[in-house]
Amino acid sequence: MATERTLALIKPDAVESKIEGDVLAMICQSGLNILAIKKVKLSASEAALFYAVHDGKPFFADLTSFISSGPLYAVALEGENGVVSWRTLMGATNPAEAAEGTIRKRFGKAINRNVVHGSDSVENAKIEMAIFFSELEYVK
Ligand code: CMP
Repeated sequence: MATERTLALIKPDAVESKIEGDVLAMICQSGLNILAIKKVKLSASEAALFYAVHDGKPFFADLTSFISSGPLYAVALEGENGVVSWRTLMGATNPAEAAEGTIRKRFGKAINRNVVHGSDSVENAKIEMAIFFSELEYVK
């Protein structure tokens, strides 16, 4: 298995519910290594850039207004099979379909309030991580 980096977001619903510490604890206990972390509030245009792949979908306006509605944490992760490892820990996009023991099963309220985001490939992880971090910010 390859060591991969991926981007996690701990979304505004998690910050509003004050569960970002619980999410970070689950990340640390999973064995994924945090390389960098940053609290950010996205503007509407930054949110549209981040989720550009979803532009044109019916939920795009809700998605971008929600992700820019309050502070979030951007977290750069690294680990064995990092992209899939983080997506497995998050659970299914729709919390109603998420497996036991996952973050979305534990904390997610709905598909559009699902607590965390994760890159879907190594290629997209590179693009998404560069939105929040420079190479110099990663600490092993
Ligand atoms: P995320 O992993 O951040 O990637 C895109 C987000 O769009 C996804 O989590 C969901 O929160 C949201 N999303 C995906 N599908 C839908 C949908 N059908 N309705 C509303 N939001 C959605």
